[in-house]
Amino acid sequence: MKIEKMSIMDLEQIKDNLQSDFDDFWNSNILEKELQNDNSYMIVVKDENNEIVGFAGIQFILDEADITNIVTKKSARNRGIGTILLKELINVSEQKDCKRITLEVNENNSIALKLYKNIGFVEIGQRKKYYNGKETAIIMEKKIEKCF
Ligand SMILES: CC(C)(COP(=O)(O)OP(=O)(O)OC[C@H]1O[C@@H](n2cnc3c(N)ncnc32)[C@H](O)[C@@H]1OP(=O)(O)O)[C@@H](O)C(=O)NCCC(=O)NCCS
Repeated sequence: MKIEKMSIMDLEQIKDNLQSDFDDFWNSNILEKELQNDNSYMIVVKDENNEIVGFAGIQFILDEADITNIVTKKSARNRGIGTILLKELINVSEQKDCKRITLEVNENNSIALKLYKNIGFVEIGQRKKYYNGKETAIIMEKKIEKCF
């Protein structure tokens, strides 16, 4: 497995199969805009055949970071790729001297909740009826502590 910054060629590789192979909540137009956004950083994980098996994105605002997306290819889930993606986003945030990282996750997304809690994210709030006007978003945070 290798981690790389997402390129426009990477997006070309996955854009027609986003819904079937990954998930349907982000389309290629949004991903393309994220690639062009100077405050955003997108990464991919590739397998030994150079195929993209996961991607994730984060936005930086001053000394804070907000994870916008993290998705593992359906056929490659539960093999540690989500954890690799999340750890890399934390590394990048540390390099940018961010003080904290936030994200939102559907209260019913138990696997994502597990992933985030495993890595040290804690719940700091909720947004009721955030998804489809029905489901609650859990807002999570991880503070970045430097060991000087
Ligand atoms: C959430 C998601 C990114 C996790 O990716 P992944 O590559 O499967 O994650 P990992 O393999 O690193 O597993 C992370 C944790 O979840 C657990 N897990 C993963 N799949 C699981 C499953 N099907 N059932 C139970 N636990 C599962 C793993 O065991 C691991 O916990 P552990 O270390 O305590 O064992 C992936 O499920 C996904 O793409 N979901 C759809 C998109 C999404 O919901 N993204 C989050 C938006 S907030």
